[in-house]
Amino acid sequence: MNIVVISASTRLNRVSHRVALFLEKTLAAAGHEVQLLDLAEYQFPIMEEVLHRHPNPPEGLERFAMLVRQADAAVFVSPEYNGSYTAALKNAVDYLKEGEFARKVVGVVSATTGPLGGMRAAMNMQELVLGVSGFALPQMLLVGNLPQRFDEAGNLIDPAFEKSINNFLNNFLWLAEAVVAKKETVGV
Ligand SMILES: Cc1cc2nc3c(=O)[nH]c(=O)nc-3n(C[C@H](O)[C@H](O)[C@H](O)COP(=O)(O)O)c2cc1C
Repeated sequence: MNIVVISASTRLNRVSHRVALFLEKTLAAAGHEVQLLDLAEYQFPIMEEVLHRHPNPPEGLERFAMLVRQADAAVFVSPEYNGSYTAALKNAVDYLKEGEFARKVVGVVSATTGPLGGMRAAMNMQELVLGVSGFALPQMLLVGNLPQRFDEAGNLIDPAFEKSINNFLNNFLWLAEAVVAKKETVGV
């Protein structure tokens, strides 16, 4: 499958990006084509107009939209900020044309440096996915105590966490592949 991983933290010295790097590597190793869409690299300004009506789209936005459009499935990776996901993620998604995530499975991953892992960010991301007509994966990956679990290069350093990751990824790939197979038989 063609999978986009959207890394939603734009903060200097961010740590949640480590999880996005890990997922990029792990999904690619499983034979998928993975695009890591890093919102810190895109630096989209606050949305003034949606992309398809924008007279002068911000740099990189058309490519970002194209990569989302081409994807079979997506993973959102965000830290929890004040009980939700990042404003950068909402901003990027709001730019896109209705339907870019429609009938695509989107798995949500939230991350915190504290122990809780960001359940509220994850639940709010699931609502966002529903808002753009995506299939929100019921299972979520909550990464608490992040610096103790992943190093800066996105390597897992806590083997005990592998079971949670595998559970999330197995469910994500199962559902995403089922949706892709359905599209192959009956069309999008
Ligand atoms: C603006 C802001 C709000 C935060 N709110 C929460 C929160 O609601 N719950 C939580 O567990 N951690 C919260 N944190 C702590 C983050 O989990 C921690 O800073 C984490 O490193 C953020 O991810 P990042 O490094 O990728 O930006 C907050 C941090 C920031 C900067």
